[in-house]
Amino acid sequence: CDIVPAAVEKTAKETSAKPYTDFRKMIDKENFDAVWICTPANVHTQNILYCIDKNLPFFVEKPVSMNEEEAETVAAKIKGTGIYHTVGYQRRYSPAVDKLKELLSSEQVIFSAAEHFWTIPLVDSIKSKENAGGQIVDQATHLIDLLRYIIGEIISVYTTRVRGFFPEEKLYTGDDASGTIFEFENGTAGNLLCTYALFPEIEK
Ligand SMILES: NC(=O)c1ccc[n+]([C@@H]2O[C@H](COP(=O)([O-])OP(=O)(O)OC[C@H]3O[C@@H](n4cnc5c(N)ncnc54)[C@H](O)[C@@H]3O)[C@@H](O)[C@H]2O)c1
Repeated sequence: CDIVPAAVEKTAKETSAKPYTDFRKMIDKENFDAVWICTPANVHTQNILYCIDKNLPFFVEKPVSMNEEEAETVAAKIKGTGIYHTVGYQRRYSPAVDKLKELLSSEQVIFSAAEHFWTIPLVDSIKSKENAGGQIVDQATHLIDLLRYIIGEIISVYTTRVRGFFPEEKLYTGDDASGTIFEFENGTAGNLLCTYALFPEIEK
């Protein structure tokens, strides 16, 4: 399923799958074991809520939603349903992360320092803060997820952001970089520096 008919037709031809341009119609008509939600972030919440209504297991690409309000709506709606679901944070499947978690499991971590430096997204839909949520919701979320997984729950946070350094990138509407300080429930202090400003000349 894709809202772009040409994309749907191409994939349908390649895979012999039935083409749909409306995910609600597809879910209503088909009898799926589970759904993989790989739409842009600004439609994740509506996709997820529909799956929950239909009692359908789902794997949603990160992030779950665009903002706290949407995430709370999803959390409240899924609680107690027993529907299998997960969020696709790919670093969670890295053996290095498993090892790090194991090594730190018996230690008190005093501080954590995390960095994620990357280029302005090459995918147009991710350049747009309106579609993808911006640099923190789209990119920093990977490391925020890992910090919570490895160190524990965050109880306070302060973030500062900068933007506007790439006026030539007309489609890019997000922040260029952000710096965040965390306080974790177990007493650890942490920081996180992220940018989309690395390699601005990367080959497209
Ligand atoms: N797990 C990871 O580390 C990782 C890596 C890359 C991307 N992602 C996530 O995957 C998702 C998709 O990213 P992408 O790079 O493939 O984006 P993309 O823009 O290349 O693809 C999204 C597709 O969804 C289609 N679409 C838009 N609205 C739709 C709707 N309402 N119904 C059906 N289809 C719709 C678009 O036409 C497009 O073909 C994003 O949430 C992104 O954050 C996750």
